[in-house]
Amino acid sequence: MIDIKNLHASIENKPILKGLNLSVKAGEIHAIMGPNGAGKSTLAKVLAGHPSYEVSGEVLFQGQNILELGPDERAHLGIFMSFQYPIEIPGVSNLQFLKAAINANRKAASKEPLTNEEFEQLLAEKMKLMDIREEFKERNLNEGFSGGEKKRNEILQMALLNPSLSILDETDSGLDIDAMRIVAKGVNQLMNQEKGLILITHYQRLLDYIHPHFVHVMLDGKIVESGGPELALELEQKGYDWLNPQLKGIAS
Ligand SMILES: Nc1ncnc2c1ncn2[C@@H]1O[C@H](COP(=O)(O)OP(=O)(O)O)[C@@H](O)[C@H]1O
Ligand SMILES: [Mg+2]
Repeated sequence: MIDIKNLHASIENKPILKGLNLSVKAGEIHAIMGPNGAGKSTLAKVLAGHPSYEVSGEVLFQGQNILELGPDERAHLGIFMSFQYPIEIPGVSNLQFLKAAINANRKAASKEPLTNEEFEQLLAEKMKLMDIREEFKERNLNEGFSGGEKKRNEILQMALLNPSLSILDETDSGLDIDAMRIVAKGVNQLMNQEKGLILITHYQRLLDYIHPHFVHVMLDGKIVESGGPELALELEQKGYDWLNPQLKGIAS
């Protein structure tokens, strides 16, 4: 589904990603863990097409190199990213935003836009799944939403857009256990054998609710260790210093 090869990214001449390799197949959930500053959010933003980075390497999505494509084109291909810090957009209601996003995707796929009725029905179904109250439709996008509400709203967007590859950046941060369960339920319901998921998380606890097939550890812009779910538990116990390249004698 996605093959990332020797990915480098820098911002203002500061290298952040330093030769990252990762391959995600359909049906797989990959967790990426790592300390603050490792470059996890940068990876997510670079994959989504954030324009601020100088990027080299190769990112093949369903066989196509997407590095030359804009963020909107990548979204239309079926890539979705949730932000660690969702932005607030005053003057745009959540409803308007969601409808515009879904219909832009449909347009790119040469499909008719959803009618108001179809959209309302789909939205009602997904809002129920994410336990989001009616009033959120009319609220301005993310404005005054609590951390947990923003995260749930991001998963609502994901549920509506039904992407083939989702990249969730620290979706668990700021969530209490109940909100995390709701978010995990939404994500788990959306996953199937045709889809891929990259779950970026600082802590192991989200992985109790969304079970990854693979866990990768990112340090200083690279993946330095990969394994199964047990790797996340090991990290939780031993901390990231355990994988410090200097300590392990593989200094880069
Ligand atoms: N806009 C920017 N300008 C300069 N440095 C940045 C910028 N964005 C991120 N960085 C730096 O890139 C590194 C990786 O950041 P980030 O990808 O947010 O890490 P993580 O998500 O793993 O905590 C950090 O050292 C951070 O300070
Ligand atoms: Mg981050």
